[in-house]
Amino acid sequence: MTMKEKFVSCEEMGKQLAFAEKVRELTEGKNFKAHIITLGCQQNEADSERISGALNSLGYTITDDDMSADLIIINTCAIREHAERRALSFIGRYKHNKAKNPDMVLGVCGCMMAQEHRMKQVITFPYVDFAFGTGSMHRLPEFVYTALTKGKRKFIKDPDKMQICEDIPVLRKSGYKAWVSIMYGCNNFCTYCIVPYVRGRERSRLPKDIISEVRELVESGYKDITLLGQNVNSYGKDIEGKPTVADLINEISKIEGEFWLHLMTSHPKDATSEMIDAIASSKCCANCFHLPLQSGSDAILKRMNRHYDIERYLSIVNELKAKNPHITLTTDIIVGFPGETEEDFKKTLDVVEKVRYDSIYTFIYSPRKGTPAAEMEDQIPEEIQKERFNRLVDLQNSISKDFNDAMVGKTVKVLVDGKSKNNEKVYMSRTENNRIVHFESEKDYTGQFINVHITRGDTFALYGEI
Ligand code: 5AD
Ligand code: SF4
Repeated sequence: MTMKEKFVSCEEMGKQLAFAEKVRELTEGKNFKAHIITLGCQQNEADSERISGALNSLGYTITDDDMSADLIIINTCAIREHAERRALSFIGRYKHNKAKNPDMVLGVCGCMMAQEHRMKQVITFPYVDFAFGTGSMHRLPEFVYTALTKGKRKFIKDPDKMQICEDIPVLRKSGYKAWVSIMYGCNNFCTYCIVPYVRGRERSRLPKDIISEVRELVESGYKDITLLGQNVNSYGKDIEGKPTVADLINEISKIEGEFWLHLMTSHPKDATSEMIDAIASSKCCANCFHLPLQSGSDAILKRMNRHYDIERYLSIVNELKAKNPHITLTTDIIVGFPGETEEDFKKTLDVVEKVRYDSIYTFIYSPRKGTPAAEMEDQIPEEIQKERFNRLVDLQNSISKDFNDAMVGKTVKVLVDGKSKNNEKVYMSRTENNRIVHFESEKDYTGQFINVHITRGDTFALYGEI
């Protein structure tokens, strides 16, 4: 893909701007509202903030109230079956809204809609006005215009070569926490994963666009910035000069201001010493790192097509810890992958004990249509998967509890998230490594850094005083 092909063309954007103008004529003075439902990962959260920005520029205000919305968009996820079932149940729910208000527009987008079999299914729901995959978001003005003028319903397959669109405005949910996509797509084809099929090949944004976005965020008071990509370690391999994620970290670290920089997510096979050094020397990199393990067994890692073994994985962990003595680690683990024996699973428990992660995201393997693992023999029965899942969660809970106990008596810097849902007087905040800290306060410090003295800890949270 050449540089020019990498970005949505000016002609295409010109066409969309013309549609946007026509939509604004239709929405003007009508006080139209849009509601967006986001399922899945941070990449989808970031995409939804661009959908909000685009709809805002079309004359819609964004509302949390789905019942009063004139336009509803469901941004779907396909990573596990459970996510797809949730998306389908949301779509079904809005059939009733449409029955009450036939002018309401319903659109479905995201990873689930990038799959042909799901598109065929959603076309059969007459109350859905349009659907599109992750690579067609820039065409939203056209889709909304067609729906408002009762044109033919649009069900759009993503182009074979997906492109980057820099011109979609972003409307962020938070005034102090921001996602910044640095790349889209994935080239890795882990055998269980649907992502490469629904998000296309890796495409990196240009460093200048990323750096200026981060600079603007810091200047406008953002305190927690996450650089997003399916595999941030391979950032830049597809663009001129081959800039690396380490280059980005080094440049961002020069920006003045107090903020945390997080990275999400990475693939161990592409972890470099250069990146680990950049994290260690950066003044803003949060002292935590997410390094997906997936399995502790070399045989299973091979069947997963992960391209590393446990020896290599642990050497990265050691390097991260040696260069950043206070770093905490988190990981993703899949249990019950096809062919996983009790021995393989015990190796996963071993690695968890050895590394002592701060927290882990544990998933029961879910077969995804079209991926190699879904066709593998030796699929593991659900009872065994659940039993292993529970053992892993129990082990991690005891490790997390130890970590939280060790925090008692210490003073930590936190970023305040706002009032707790259950208690008016209590505020919720997070440490730089995402531990939840509750504290009482008369004053509202939402969006600010403060220091909290930890007085108590349990498995899932810390409690303290300002
Ligand atoms: N089943 C279960 N978990 C999965 N993940 C990705 N695909 C699947 C699947 N088919 C998990 C991986 C990945 C995380 C985002 O989701 O652990 O790192
Ligand atoms: Fe999926 Fe593997 Fe790509 Fe991560 S690296 S998105 S698990 S294929």
